Amino acid sequence: MNTKHSAFAAALAALCIVGCYASLEDYPKEKCTALPNENVVKAIHDNCIKCHTKDFTTAQDICVRKGMIIDSVKSGRMPKMGKLYDHYRDTILNWK
Ligand code: HEC
Repeated sequence: MNTKHSAFAAALAALCIVGCYASLEDYPKEKCTALPNENVVKAIHDNCIKCHTKDFTTAQDICVRKGMIIDSVKSGRMPKMGKLYDHYRDTILNWK
């Protein structure tokens, strides 16, 4: 590998430190009782997908993480290193 390539690889790896480690795979899923409406899905796609690339793809994926999502947003743990606009926060916390 020449220097140009390794610099590129290093840059990719640096990007991944933040993004690529977010995976909820190891957490047990809950039972989906009510699918989130499109505003909830949009709020999560706008704010969470960039790190959680595979966690929240469909409304069903989001639904089985409801408790975790609300808890992490309410406590301010998520979005990691960021802050939600109030309307997004309200939408997620008042999940419908
Ligand atoms: C900047 C990247 C990033 C963003 C944006 C982000 N997350 Fe995360 N999230 C992570 C990482 C990394 C983890 C893995 C472990 C940790 O650090 O808690 C994680 C873990 C989680 C967990 C499980 C652990 C916990 O603390 O409950 C939940 C639930 C979660 N994220 C939900 C969300 C939701 C909902 C959003 C959008 C509002 C979001 N995340 C946005 C990076 C991110």
